[in-house]
Amino acid sequence: MPRSLCGPSCRLPAVTRFRALLAAEPDGTPARLVGRAEDELGDGDVTVEVAWASLNYKDALAVTGRSPVVRRFPLVAGIDLAGRVVESPPGGPAVGSYVVVTGCGLGEDHDGGFAERARVQAGWCVPLASAEEARWAITVGMAGFTAMLCVLGLERLGALDGHEPPVLVTGAAGGVGSFAVALLAARGAHVVAGTGRPEEAAYLRRLGADEVVARADLLAGPDRPLGRERFAAAVDVAGGPLLARVLTAVRAGGAVAACGLAGGSDLHTTVYPFILRGVTLMGINAVWPDPTVRAAAWARLRAELPAGLVGGVAEEIDLADVIDRAPQVLDGRVRGRLVVRVAPAGTQRPDRS
Ligand SMILES: NC(=O)c1ccc[n+]([C@@H]2O[C@H](COP(=O)([O-])OP(=O)(O)OC[C@H]3O[C@@H](n4cnc5c(N)ncnc54)[C@H](OP(=O)(O)O)[C@@H]3O)[C@@H](O)[C@H]2O)c1
Repeated sequence: MPRSLCGPSCRLPAVTRFRALLAAEPDGTPARLVGRAEDELGDGDVTVEVAWASLNYKDALAVTGRSPVVRRFPLVAGIDLAGRVVESPPGGPAVGSYVVVTGCGLGEDHDGGFAERARVQAGWCVPLASAEEARWAITVGMAGFTAMLCVLGLERLGALDGHEPPVLVTGAAGGVGSFAVALLAARGAHVVAGTGRPEEAAYLRRLGADEVVARADLLAGPDRPLGRERFAAAVDVAGGPLLARVLTAVRAGGAVAACGLAGGSDLHTTVYPFILRGVTLMGINAVWPDPTVRAAAWARLRAELPAGLVGGVAEEIDLADVIDRAPQVLDGRVRGRLVVRVAPAGTQRPDRS
């Protein structure tokens, strides 16, 4: 972590009021853009001038109020952020430096990234080299970080050893899915991209997919406890019926990294994949990873994700657009990542990709 460079006060000049997007509330109060004061910032020892956030599936649930992901009200939504440090304790990230924060309760029980100012804990901050790297890091954001944790988990189990049979990614055209395809392809796996949008085949092939399979085809055929051993491993963002079907198609000794519920939170399956094939179903929680794992995952992301590829998965929107775009995320109509410009236009430096 960089040493703090500031003097005794350890802070840049404060702003008076800043824009913040509050999550929908259980009493029916909708998500709304409000003005907030510095003294309304939450707990933490590092204050960040937020340049970028991203609109993730979980944020879309919080903004639409479609599912209870927020545990404290009122709460600023946004499960990740990147920006410039304006206040920091001794030993924390340097004032004036850039950081990215993913998870750690942001947008769930701690004010999140959809605000021009955020207060976080020093230990949550991943240091970045520059403003340009902040744009790269938020495009990767929670989605790319989660995909990397899935890959690290499958590697740990030896499930990615060898090149046959292929590795499946479900929800491949979404945020986590796009990065899972790219990361698996970068390490030489034969990647099958499973998608409900086969029309995105060209995009998925650009990310490195060797084959693109329609979600309907993955679900087709008789629903048996065990099917053909088609996949060495899988990264699953879908959950629900698709995850149940994937488990029946993983080879003996293979593994599935389950990280999402875009297709449902229920899981109806049998024990046969586990007791007859030794398949491992591994859960991924990217919100509170071990700090060592977090550092290792970001190091791998930096090394393995070319900047040009990262730029190609992102569409940029303004903080004011988040409420309108959230339902499209839940309906699976957004490709790759929605990067949210939080700081007023013109105050960020251009993307390096
Ligand atoms: N465990 C963790 O710590 C963690 C961290 C981050 C995200 N997540 C979870 O991972 C999931 C994906 O997050 P994200 O940000 O990547 O979301 P996203 O960008 O909205 O992508 C979700 C993708 O899921 C697919 N999908 C949509 N409806 C589906 C259905 N009915 N059945 C199967 N697949 C469906 C779609 O891909 P196609 O169009 O290609 O089919 C969609 O693009 C979410 O459930 C999110 O909550 C968990």
